[in-house]
Parts: sequence; structure tokens; C-alpha cells
Amino acid sequence: MKKRAWWQESVIYQIYPRSFMDSNNDGNGDIQGIISKLDYLADLGVNGIWLSPIYVSPMKDNGYDVADYFDINPMFGTMADFDELLAEAKKRNIKILMDLVCNHTSTEHIWFKEAIKDKNSKYHDFYIFKDKPDDKKSSFGGSAWCYVPSLNEYYYHYFDESQADLNWANPELRKEVASICKFWLDKGCGGFRLDAIELISKDLENNVFANGPHVHEYLHELNQNAFSLYDEALTVGEGWPTIDICLDYTRPEREELSLIFEFQTATLDWNPKGFGKYQPVEVNHTSLKDIVTNWQTGLKDKSWNVVFLENHDLGRSVTRYGNDGEYKVESAKMLATLMMSLNGTIFLYQGQELGMINPYFKDLDLYDDVDSKTMYKDVVQTMKAMSHDEFMHGLLMNSRDNARTPMHWDNSVNSGFNKGNKTWLAMNSHAKDINVENQINDEDSVLSYYKKLIGLRKSNLKDVFIDGYFERLTNYETTDDLFVYKKTYNGEVITMIINLGQNEIDYDLSLVKDKEVIISNYKDIDKKLRAYEAIIVRG
Ligand code: NOJ
Repeated sequence: MKKRAWWQESVIYQIYPRSFMDSNNDGNGDIQGIISKLDYLADLGVNGIWLSPIYVSPMKDNGYDVADYFDINPMFGTMADFDELLAEAKKRNIKILMDLVCNHTSTEHIWFKEAIKDKNSKYHDFYIFKDKPDDKKSSFGGSAWCYVPSLNEYYYHYFDESQADLNWANPELRKEVASICKFWLDKGCGGFRLDAIELISKDLENNVFANGPHVHEYLHELNQNAFSLYDEALTVGEGWPTIDICLDYTRPEREELSLIFEFQTATLDWNPKGFGKYQPVEVNHTSLKDIVTNWQTGLKDKSWNVVFLENHDLGRSVTRYGNDGEYKVESAKMLATLMMSLNGTIFLYQGQELGMINPYFKDLDLYDDVDSKTMYKDVVQTMKAMSHDEFMHGLLMNSRDNARTPMHWDNSVNSGFNKGNKTWLAMNSHAKDINVENQINDEDSVLSYYKKLIGLRKSNLKDVFIDGYFERLTNYETTDDLFVYKKTYNGEVITMIINLGQNEIDYDLSLVKDKEVIISNYKDIDKKLRAYEAIIVRG
């Protein structure tokens, strides 16, 4: 068998730095806070951390608006803090992945400042300018073009107007991106998550925004000039691909990216029509099973899967895919079983390991997210396409702030996130109930359950857990809620029996009879599958 890269056998933990741990009590998480929690992460079993952006930034989009790629935002600390983080993480066998945000920069970046001073500046061609705007919309709402009086031109921004899109057609810009990558890889970072990477090549005249004509050429070049110069650097792109598109980016022989996220699984409650996540629909379990199966079989032996259900842009999975009331523990464990039994590299988002749920902020003022706010203005106030109440419901489920409330460490003030100063975003009112202190020594907690599952992916069953042949057993699926699949690796077989819903289900007992139960979220095995019951058996 081909030796696997470190990241193929890893669970990568995503940290949203502003909300993870605030060491200096200023209301914002920081690098020293992260360092203080490395033992917790090592104990959980993670081998990599994806850090959402910590570069200098005006924080209009919480760091996804970079003003200097080579320095640390003072809100998070200094370069010395970062170097300490790298060294401390290394001691614990944890690699640090930076978030490479290079589809756009902040309008406070020096390149942009130079670009708008003078049309003849070389930096003018680092961005996308036009004499007259057309009707393209920003994905955060409103026009995608913003007027610059000094130039009498408009610049293009797919996201907020403070995030100007870069012009990757310019080879000099691409060289700059390669040197940014090398700077962080030379420091010893393990790789990158690449923000909005499918957008870097576009053909706006023909309304091509994503996966444009040169994207593969640019990424291959970046791979040759940066990634491939380092041993096993992990590059995971943010994209919204189909399986074929994903393979074009990630088949090893293409020498572009190691992995690309797929968002079909994690956005099943987004309305495909209308205003997407702000008009949520119920998760369809048949679609969920089909999509998981397609991805698990579609990449097999050609590329490698990324498995995730949460990140900083999505509402909490227990709220959206489980039941965050009566069955919040059972459904959190069910989702953990589903995710951790799939092939690929696992990405776990901070707080997911506790089964954190949405905070249900009822007041618009409690939201901070630029996307939520701009969309509210556009959709409710300008277009009057949704009512205030309808939009608020959308926010309760899918505002990005749902995942961004500070982490719950203990039962002290602000749940141990800091020492009691106000926090940049309100605390989640469920913090007293769902926190690390309550769960860490409780064998039945969601946290302990995650730890066991991560342990299984490193045990003597690891091959079948991370890279088995996936086969869905539809014959056993007596209802939409029942998902049954098995995985095989060199004669080792495991079978997953998962109730995705809360109704009891009759199931074929031969699936479990005389089988060794490897893990399950109920204390015993019954004749029926109970609410959100999930079982993994050997054989
Ligand atoms: C995707 C990031 O995950 C999101 O948080 C950000 O707003 C956009 N890209 C723009 O960088």
C-alpha cells in the first residue's frame, strides 16, 4: 500500500481565533489563548489546526480581509507569539495550517491603496477595475462594483466592498502569492486552507465567477513554485465543487491541491431557490444519504475526501441536522458517528466536539457578521423580498455568527473564554450546560464520544475507518431516516447503522446479532433503533 501523507490520517481542528480563548481579557481570543489550550487539543487527538486568518486586518470580515500577509494582527498577538505557537504545537505533533485568503485583499492593503492612487501604478492591474458597473451582485448582497472617485472607475468585489478581488491574470500578482506561501511554509507551517480558491480565475464578461478558464493553470503554477517545494504540505481549497470538478483540482497527478471541501453535505438546509441559507428548508435524509454515498465512492482511489459538517460560516450541525432540545446529546453523537466513520481527512470545528448548538440570538443587534448585516439591508430593507421576521428566522438557523460565539471552556464567568470582560460577540446562553469542564471527565459526554471515535481512527482499525471500500446497504434501509453502510479493508469489515431522525425504527437485527459493537451512542442494543441511535459493529 502507498504510504499515506500525515494529513490523510489526521483529524484537523479549525480554530476561529477571535472566539477560541482570550488570554488578555480584551474580549477577543488570541494566540496565547490558543497556546494555553494545546494540551486539550492534543488530548482530543488532533494532528493539525486550521487557523482562520490572523494576519493584519481591519476585521470587516474577521480577518478574511487581509491588509498585510506578512504580519500578525495585534488583536491576536505578535509574530513572536505565532512562532511560539508553532514550536509548542510541534512538540505535540500538531501542524498549523494558515488560511490563505488570496482571492481578494482588504481595501486597506498597500497594493489597493497604491492602485487607487494612480492608474499607471503596477498595482492598478493587481485588481479588477471597470469604467462602468454592470448588474453583478456581491455574494453578501448589493452591487459587486464599488466606485473610486480618484480614478473615476469601479472595482470588483465578490464579497464585501472592503474586499477587493485580485487579478490573478497578472503574473506579478501570482508571484506575490507564491512568496506569501513560502514565507509561512518556511516558518514551518504545515500548509494552507485556501479561501474561495475556485474564484481566482473568472471571466466576468461572460458571467463566469467560479472555476474559470485558468484556475488550474494558476494552481499548478502555485503548486510548482511553492507547495511542492515542501514535504507533504497540505493544501485544502474552499470550493463548492461537483465530484468531477473536485477531481480536476485534487487528483495527485494534477499537482494542484491536496484536497477540496465539498459543501453539498453541509448545506442541505439551504434553500436552493430564493435566499438560500436565509430561507432554510428541512434536511432531506434521502439526499443526505445519496450525497454522502456519491462522495465516498466518487473519489475512492482517485483522490481523497474531506469530511466536515461545521465551520465558521455555517450554523451548528446539532441544531440544523440533529435535535438541539431533548436529543441534543444523542443527535450530536449520531452526527459524530456518521462523520468519523467516513473515509477521508476529518475537519472538526471548535465546539463541535462538545455538541455546541446555535445561540438563538433574537435581536438583530446581537449579530455582527458582515454577510448577515449586508444581506438584511439588501433583502429586507432595499428589496423588501423578505419580512423582518422571516429573515430573523434565517439568522437563527444560518447566520455565520451561530458558529462564532466564544468557546465554552468551564463554568466560570464567560465560560472561561476570558476573565469576565465583555466579549466581542455575545456568549451563547447554553454555555452553562455545554462546556469542556462538564464533559471532560464524563465518560458519556459528547466530548468523550468524539475522543473515542478519533481514537478508533488511529487504532488497529484505522485503515478501514479512514480508507475502506464504502458500500451502502440500501436493502436494510426501511425508512428515509435509516442509513446503513459498510466499509471493508483487507478483510476487516465495519458496518454503520444510523438513525438520522428521532422516530423509532424497526431494523433487521441480523445487522447486530453476534457482532462486536465497536461504538454506539446508547448504553445497549435494542430491538428498535431509538432516536438518533448510531451503532458501529465489526463484521
Ligand atoms: C470564505 C470564508 O470562509 C468566509 O468566512 C469569508 O467571508 C469569505 N470566504 C470571503 O473571504
